[in-house]
Amino acid sequence: MKDISKITWIIMISSFLLLTIMIGTTTKLVQKYTYKDAIAVEINSEQIEAGIQLEKESKSADHFTSYKSYPTTSIEAIDESIHKWVKTNENEFLDRMNNLEEEENNLTARYHLDTEVNKLSDDLYSIKLQSEETIDESDEKISVKTFLINVENEELIDLQDIFDNEKFSEKERFLLMAEQLEDEIDYDTWKPALEDINDLEVYIDSNKFIFYFTDDNLIANDDNVLEVPVATAQLADYLTANYYDLFITDEMESEIEQAKIEEQEAKEEEIAGHKYIALTFDDGPMPGSTNRILETLDQYDAKATFFMLGNNVQANPDLAKKVADNGHEIANHSITHADLNKVSAEQVRKEMIDSKKLIENITGKTPTLFRPPYGSKNDAVHEIANETEQSIALWSIDTYDWQHLNPNATFEKVKANVKPGSIILMHDIHQESADALPRVMEFLDEEGYEFVTMTELLPYIEGEGIGPYYGN
Ligand code: NI
Repeated sequence: MKDISKITWIIMISSFLLLTIMIGTTTKLVQKYTYKDAIAVEINSEQIEAGIQLEKESKSADHFTSYKSYPTTSIEAIDESIHKWVKTNENEFLDRMNNLEEEENNLTARYHLDTEVNKLSDDLYSIKLQSEETIDESDEKISVKTFLINVENEELIDLQDIFDNEKFSEKERFLLMAEQLEDEIDYDTWKPALEDINDLEVYIDSNKFIFYFTDDNLIANDDNVLEVPVATAQLADYLTANYYDLFITDEMESEIEQAKIEEQEAKEEEIAGHKYIALTFDDGPMPGSTNRILETLDQYDAKATFFMLGNNVQANPDLAKKVADNGHEIANHSITHADLNKVSAEQVRKEMIDSKKLIENITGKTPTLFRPPYGSKNDAVHEIANETEQSIALWSIDTYDWQHLNPNATFEKVKANVKPGSIILMHDIHQESADALPRVMEFLDEEGYEFVTMTELLPYIEGEGIGPYYGN
């Protein structure tokens, strides 16, 4: 009895599978459009560079026309990748036609694929394939695919070979795009398109790199494709040594040098006119003392930076949110205030990453600065900071407010040590620190200091060597 039921099951399952396959096959057979429908086909080939042919093919059928041009090198490894992309892209056009809900008698769909090739050296070529698929006027799709080939070594070059992945990090890629677009761009939207350097599409022109973003990564919006040209000289710091020599000319090098000098001068001029300092508060938020500190800051219309502990944020979510809503910078100070030199690497990860997420969830602000408790840091801390896009942020004036709990001593510490660019360390978990703040701020205000957040201050003090303020 048991065996029979087993056989019955096998037959039932097999029949079901067979039926599924048959239905699948039938669906394939009723495809409305195929390239076999083409009534006119024209093919020709043109040599455009030594070793590179451009293949051109035009097809037309009742309801569509198709034109494509694509390169062939007769190097198998290279041609295979390029031709595979062309085939997939072309088939996608057919699929989109075949997926139309109903038969359209006056359909005139169009596929157009163009190729651009730029010779970068005797062996190196940059190639860009761009296709436009128009199913009807309202349904247009642009795809861009780029290749970099070395015909001497017979290989495709990955972008990770050209760019130093550490220097040209995801964060740097994002900042570069934001700078080029002179616009507030949204990190979360851009992240998927930027996270893998090898997924970027870039065509290398004589003096610029052109980055392409299409509909696929939701960035292109109305135009279907967003082109972001970047002057080659601007990429100099990100290139690996070999490619630096190839792409950066002597002329560019002196321009880069000049730009750096000008930037430094502008920075000095900016600092000369202002006495910027950053007030930073650690270990909170704490009801009572943090509220009073917020009130004092408000009286001076000052913005400060709060290095919060995950545990205290969780215990006082409304207060943490209030600090953020008042416009102060929200930064990360670990979950439990562990000495990161004394715990396991796994614990370091938890302290740095979980805390960042928790603070982000509760305050709505993403911390980009991490201050290790006690200033204790090691390789693991640096590594995780890089990985999670947090900069390690220390201080230049320690008030020892937590130790002496004496408002007057806190004031004297600040008075004796402050100078433009100072990062002052206090703790918003102590009443005595809240008590010290009005006098500290009154003094600094009278001395002409301007209060900025730590992130706002950092560009002015980088390289000034005024203390353990900012390590990476
Ligand atoms: Ni602390």
